[in-house]
Amino acid sequence: MTGSDIITLLGADWTGCEDLIRKSLRSDIGLLNSINDASLSNSGKQLRPKLALLTARCLGGTNGDSLHYAAAVELLHNATLFHDDVADSSSLRRGRPTLSALMGPNAAVLVGDYWLARAVDLIIETTHRTDAFKMFSATLSHLAEGEMLQLEKASGADTSEEDYLRIIYCKTASLFETACTTAALSVDAPKELCYAASRFGRATGLAFQIRDDIFDYLDDGQIGKPVGIDLKEQKITLPLLGVLQSAPDEADLRARVRDIPQHPEYVAELRSYVCGHGGIEYAMRRLDDFIGEALEALEAFPASPERDALAEIARYNAIRKV
Ligand code: IPE
Ligand code: IPE
Ligand code: MG
Ligand code: MG
Repeated sequence: MTGSDIITLLGADWTGCEDLIRKSLRSDIGLLNSINDASLSNSGKQLRPKLALLTARCLGGTNGDSLHYAAAVELLHNATLFHDDVADSSSLRRGRPTLSALMGPNAAVLVGDYWLARAVDLIIETTHRTDAFKMFSATLSHLAEGEMLQLEKASGADTSEEDYLRIIYCKTASLFETACTTAALSVDAPKELCYAASRFGRATGLAFQIRDDIFDYLDDGQIGKPVGIDLKEQKITLPLLGVLQSAPDEADLRARVRDIPQHPEYVAELRSYVCGHGGIEYAMRRLDDFIGEALEALEAFPASPERDALAEIARYNAIRKV
């Protein structure tokens, strides 16, 4: 099942969600409108609203709240990307120059703020807003905490696997979890199904970020954003953690990560060490564990084409190229 099969399956729910996103971004500032339109026309995979709408349909059928939360999740995701490309000084996103590269970090931060504010406005309009706000605001805190922990750990080069899992939960999986949990909330799903939705979202998000971190070590040119930048920024991710665990010279390898600013040549050395010592395979095994957990959580959902599509998205993490 491809992304467009999922869009076909979602039908009017999908177009309704897209309409909400488009309408909520409208502004009478011409520059802002043209940036928003350009961004919407190069929209990315839109995985999170797909997960949200599929989950709501699995657990009872969508309603206005489900569409509003799905739209808010995608707006929030894009807001974090505008900000992340400033934080990471990244020049390429979805195969095109980032807003930050085109117009500078000030504009990118402001546009990110605008998308975030529009997401809040969509949530205000819903009947489950009190609980939904708790979930979205927890995720917003997680996003900032994850990025800050990542920064703190980068300078010390002392990231453990536990730290890493916390970072990727905060910066990525928390939003996947909220996409699925607010979907369950929107349809008043019973407690055990809300729990299954949240477990599914969390495990899928962890697998998703592990795949992203593997991409950073590979160079197959399809991903549409720069690779090799995590190590340059001294971020220790799962492929490197995998080799650190069994390396006889762990302290020496960590010292190299710490010394990257003075010795940029260590980036290429570390990268080939990781690829030559099973780091990618280690990360793939952990990724498969999380896919297994996501699929296990889905067993609580009633069987349906939507549940099959959710399983497909979870499994897609192991093979995706973008
Ligand atoms: C990119 O997310 C940020 C990460 C969490 C790795 P996506 O890969 O879902 O971004 P788009 O929206 O499809 O470009
Ligand atoms: C993704 O982290 C987390 C976000 C909240 C955007 P990355 O920095 O790895 O994401 P990419 O690789 O730039 O998409
Ligand atoms: Mg980034
Ligand atoms: Mg990345």
